[in-house]
Amino acid sequence: QLPQQVKIVEVGPRDGLQNESASVPAEIKLELIQKLEQAGLSVIEAGSFVSPKWVPQMASSAEVYQSIEQKPGVSYPMLVPNLRGLESALAVGVEEIAIFAAASESFTRKNINCSIDESITRYGDVMEQARQHNLRVRGYVSCVLGCPYEGAIAVERVAEVAQRLYEMGCYEISLGDTVGVGTPVQAQQMIDAVAERVPMERLAAHFHDTYGQALANLFAVLQRGVSVIDSSVSGLGGCPYAKGASGNVATEDVLYMLNGMGIETGVDMSKLVEAGRFISDFLQRQPASKVARALIAA
Ligand code: HMG
Ligand code: MG
Repeated sequence: QLPQQVKIVEVGPRDGLQNESASVPAEIKLELIQKLEQAGLSVIEAGSFVSPKWVPQMASSAEVYQSIEQKPGVSYPMLVPNLRGLESALAVGVEEIAIFAAASESFTRKNINCSIDESITRYGDVMEQARQHNLRVRGYVSCVLGCPYEGAIAVERVAEVAQRLYEMGCYEISLGDTVGVGTPVQAQQMIDAVAERVPMERLAAHFHDTYGQALANLFAVLQRGVSVIDSSVSGLGGCPYAKGASGNVATEDVLYMLNGMGIETGVDMSKLVEAGRFISDFLQRQPASKVARALIAA
């Protein structure tokens, strides 16, 4: 049976924009974040404290975070790859961070320049500091349905990494189909394997739509009991270390599907479409969301 309520984690300002080659000014990011808040989103991933040499678009993350007029009840997690990133986060008063591991050795190397084991050790140090500062920590596992370098990934590997992050103290584990290659039954098998080690209510689905499977995959895992979905307004994004990956599933498309099934989210469709239109206009492109296009045309 399907959940009555779903929490949508909006990742557009971070996962969406990190891949844009043209620099997006901090004021535009801030306006986007504000419009997303107004649409009723309660979690908005606002940026990352990573090396600006690796991901130049996120270099303004401290400035962006400091300028957000935070709305009560809304959280603004920031990605942190190491202790250096955590220091930057603490310096601007961040209350929630996300650490990001992967189920593939090759992807981990390309993305954060270390092995899976090294990344877990690194994140253990980050976690310890985060605990001392009372930060909430979300954990990501990338490449859960396939890797751009290694191809198929065994569900056991995914479950192992997810369990390690959960046992370390992450309150939620987001499972990323980074390249968007998965299909529904495979998504269910992966979720079932992870749920043997991490409670289902602690799992989030973070699916990309490269092969047009994201909504089908989401529906498949909703049926298994997942009730947290990561998505990106207007379908922004990709991944700098996953060539050819298109954006995250569009928040508008997810909301339309959930609304149609009577599942509550607290998100307002017309305000969401407006947020998507704002950033698409800035980037001078059509929203990747089919729902947004249909509603704008109507
Ligand atoms: P490295 O080169 O191995 O690190 O990179 P290093 O410690 O040798 O440092 C190299 C340089 O970076 C030094 O500067 C450091 O000071 C600096 P230099 O001396 O050359 O001038 N540095 C930093 N600067 C700012 N903030 C920091 C930081 N750390 C070191 N925190 C590192 C290792 C992890 C830093 C690098 O690989 C990196 O930044 N990677 C981030 C990659 C990234 O952001 N990827 C996208 C997010 S993951 C994703 O999108 C997937 C997800 O959405 C889920 C899904 O879709 O599946 C989460
Ligand atoms: Mg992603």
